[in-house]
Parts: sequence; C-alpha cells; structure tokens
Amino acid sequence: MSITPQSFSPTLREKISRFEAFKRPVKLGSIEFSSPLILAPMAGICNIPYRLLMEDLGAGGTVSELVSCHGINHGNKRTLDMLKIDPLEKVVGLQLFGEDLEAMTRAAVVAESFKPKWIDINMGCPVNKVVSKGGGSALMKEITALAPLFESMRSKMNVPLTIKIRTGWDQDHRNALEIVKIARESGIEWVAIHGRTRTQQYTGFADWNFIEDIAGEKILPLIGNGDLHHPVATSDRLQKTKCEALMIARGALRNPFIFLESLDPTYAQKRKSDFLGADYWEVIQRLWKYIQEVYPDERMLLVQARKLVVWFAAGFPHSAQFRSKAFAAQTALDAFKISEDYFLSLGSSQKSINYDEGFMTSGHG
Ligand SMILES: Cc1cc2nc3c(=O)[nH]c(=O)nc-3n(C[C@H](O)[C@H](O)[C@H](O)COP(=O)(O)O)c2cc1C
Repeated sequence: MSITPQSFSPTLREKISRFEAFKRPVKLGSIEFSSPLILAPMAGICNIPYRLLMEDLGAGGTVSELVSCHGINHGNKRTLDMLKIDPLEKVVGLQLFGEDLEAMTRAAVVAESFKPKWIDINMGCPVNKVVSKGGGSALMKEITALAPLFESMRSKMNVPLTIKIRTGWDQDHRNALEIVKIARESGIEWVAIHGRTRTQQYTGFADWNFIEDIAGEKILPLIGNGDLHHPVATSDRLQKTKCEALMIARGALRNPFIFLESLDPTYAQKRKSDFLGADYWEVIQRLWKYIQEVYPDERMLLVQARKLVVWFAAGFPHSAQFRSKAFAAQTALDAFKISEDYFLSLGSSQKSINYDEGFMTSGHG
C-alpha cells in the first residue's frame, strides 16, 4: 500500500504558495521540520490520510496517535497497522504509550522498524483507563522511574526519543521543569508540553506563561502546545514564543489551513480567510482519495471521512444542517455528494466560530 500523489488546482496552489513563502525550517535536535508548526498527536484522527493532508497543507511535521506498547508486543494487527507510515509522508514520529520499561523498550524496537523519524512517549494522557495502569500522565508522578525508562528505550533505538508531557499532575505538582531536566540527562531530544495539568484534563486554559518560563531555561528544545485554535492566536504566539516550535491539535480540525494561515504575520489584521468553500471541497476530495487508498473498506471510508468533513464545516453558514445530513448518509457516495453540494454552495462565506466555547474537551494528551 502506498498513496498516489495528488496535485492541487492552480487556484489553490497559488493560495498555498503565498503562505508557504513565510515558511522557515526549524531543527529540533537532529530532525529538520519544514515549519515550526507541527500537527499534535490525536487518537482516532492522526492516521496516514490526515497526517499526509496536514503536511500537504503546511504542517512542518506530524505525530501518530498514541499506540499501545502492549498491543505492539502482542502482535495485534490493528495496533501494528497504526504504526504504518506512507512513503509520501515526510517528517513523522510515532507515539507509544505504556508504563513498563521492558514492554516500552521492546515496542520501540518494533515501532522503529516502521521507519519513523523519531519515537515519542505519551506522558500526558489523562484518561483513567491509561493512567490507572501507570501510563500517560501517570508517568509524571513517578519521576525516579523516568531516567531508567528513557535510557532503556534509547539503548535499543537508533532514531531520537522524545516525550510529550503536561505541566504536571495537578496544580500543586507542576513538575514539568524537573522532568525536562531528567529528559536532558537521559538523552531525550526534545519535549512537547501541553500547558495543562492532568487534573485539569481539558478545562480552563493552557498556561503559556508556565510553558514560556521553561522554554526560557533552554534546557532542551521545547514544543509548546495548547489552545492554539485560530491563526491569529497561533501567529501571535509564534512571533513571541521562546519555544522552538508549536504543536496544534484541535485547531487543525476546524481549520485545515491553520498551519499555512498562521505563518503570515499580517493575518491578524486581515481577520479574513483566503480559503473558501471551494478550497475546502478540493481538500476534502484529496482527503477522500487518501482514505480510500488506505482503507478500501466502504464503512471505514464513511466513518473516517464524514467526521473530518463535518469538523471542517464548523463555523460556516448552515453547518449544523449539513452535519445532520452528513451523519444521516448511509453510503460514502451519499456523504460525498452531500459534502460537495454544501461546500460548493458556500461561495465567499467566511467562518464564524466562538472560540470561547469548549471544543473536543477530551483526548489522550
Ligand atoms: C481527540 C483528541 C485526541 C488526542 N489524542 C492524543 C494522543 O493520542 N496523544 C497525545 O499525546 N495527545 C493527544 N491529544 C492531546 C493533543 O495532542 C493536545 O495536546 C491537546 O489537544 C491540546 O492542544 P490543542 O489545544 O491544540 O488541541 C488528543 C487531543 C484530542 C482533542
């Protein structure tokens, strides 16, 4: 299996190129990213089609969804499929989760055979099922276990090892700085940090002052993450951050052009997107082809494509009616037709989103 490359129409190509002119590569440890704006890992979303689409649309690199070290070690087919990377993907890392040093080390060796540019450990997942076994953000609690875990995994790996953490377990135990120091001593190449505690889950706001303070210490390259849901917020952060790079998760679901638009420092004044319904429709067709090639099963195509298309519609006029229609579609072809009619009817409509309202307030990191 390998995805067939697609080209953009001249109109969309021209718009993309205008933003790409602002792109500047950034090196984190030994890995070069084409831009400092990276797609964050998202379970059930960051598979090959979506990662590749986001790279096509300017993401400097991407990370897989979290993959269970035990599933890998048991040779579970569905788990192993999650490690696959397409040859068209340029800069992609694989994220593992688990709690056991030996299991994580064995899984890292298997994951590396799928040729990621790096392997990341999930240390931010707040979900009970993961945390109760000692994985995800529970790893931030037992910090004496971290150096042996990092060193064991690294001793069997050839690609860089990285970690994605939260600020701490709770407000009274915000030990991210300590963990970054341990990470440096154990040869971790960079740290991504979501600016919330585990207890916060997805409530409140990401604490960017906290992130910037750690970034200012220059212990390791830091990737800041949290609440960069709009090109204005992202562009603003990009211009003032001490982090080497930024990660975007949910923002890329409602605006697939966020990686491009955030690069333009004048965007904040414009407050108007260049990307219209017809551009969304072109991007959706591309995504559809990618999904079809990776998951030839009709049901998978319907399920995978529909949820993304509905998110992409967020904020456009009549998106609620479109969502109902798309979810009522019984076949992928029906959903495709409904999407075509909707996005092509949008003309020059702009999106209107209330960013103060919660969006997707649960996740694995
Ligand atoms: C649906 C969903 C799934 C997620 N899955 C993962 C995951 O597999 N691994 C991980 O480290 N973080 C995961 N996260 C957390 C995001 O990577 C990110 O840290 C968080 O959403 C904050 O960034 P944002 O405000 O840009 O969304 C997930 C988040 C969401 C919303």
